[in-house]
Amino acid sequence: MAFETITVEVEDHVALITLNRPDAMNALNDQLLGELVTALEEAQGNDKVRCIVLTGSEKAFAAGADIKMMSDKSFVEVFAGDLFGPEADAIMRVRKPIIAAVSGYALGGGCELAMMCDFIIASESAKFGQPEINLGVMAGLGGSQRLTRFIGKSKSMDMNLTGRFMDAEEAERSGLVSRVVPIKKLREEALAAAGKIAEKSMVSIMAVKEAVNRSYETTLREGLLFERRVFHSLFATEDQKEGMSAFMEKREAQFRDK
Ligand code: HXC
Repeated sequence: MAFETITVEVEDHVALITLNRPDAMNALNDQLLGELVTALEEAQGNDKVRCIVLTGSEKAFAAGADIKMMSDKSFVEVFAGDLFGPEADAIMRVRKPIIAAVSGYALGGGCELAMMCDFIIASESAKFGQPEINLGVMAGLGGSQRLTRFIGKSKSMDMNLTGRFMDAEEAERSGLVSRVVPIKKLREEALAAAGKIAEKSMVSIMAVKEAVNRSYETTLREGLLFERRVFHSLFATEDQKEGMSAFMEKREAQFRDK
């Protein structure tokens, strides 16, 4: 499908989705989010794709929800229409891993979109923030919830109440991002990480994503039991036999997603 606000390239089992509204710092409007959801659903359904990388430009991953699009909306319109709700739910339904490769601004809905991904690799220029408070509103896609779980209450309150930006170094120190890389290497490093994931068994990949995400939804005891049972269930796969045989035979495993 032809997109106008994003680009999609599939190579070596990785779908690279690039947000592409350069005139608006990749602000999230209905069209961009609609196209993003379509691209993610296509990647989910495409057997050639085993991992997804979501990125923006050097200047901006995304500077938030489109303020021009939202400014005149009434409470009833955003509430009854559940502004951005269905798109967020659709993104969370994707079962293949999504890596956010963030350079420049990831603000408001942009920071929240990055946090909806499975992990964030940031360039040295990345700036994260929840500046909605400056607009007389507040975070609406996870900035008060996911961010708090990722970086703790004190820093989350600081970010959400002052609207200040966090640089890449602080974001890594705080646990928001998994690694920081030079700006010129961001795409390469994210694609390399995605390539590494793509080599694994798809069954294990999806099980890991489900289990880690479950840790945010349940008690430790239930989460540990869920993890152990999923671990046990992977012994029903041919890939478990292959992975363990390959180790003992000192060769690379050839996973077949079975
Ligand atoms: C619409 C935006 C935009 C946004 C930037 N632009 N962010 N348009 N929505 N969120 C547009 C500007 O209007 C401008 O277009 C162009 O992009 C370049 O931006 P500048 O401001 O000229 O660039 P700069 O001075 O470098 O500043 C960059 C910036 C600033 C720091 C990122 O643009 C900024 O503060 N943006 C808003 C960030 C924000 O408040 N995000 C939260 C949004 S609310 P023109 O045509 O004027 O040249 C949100 C809610 C999520 O995300 C929850 C939903 C449920």
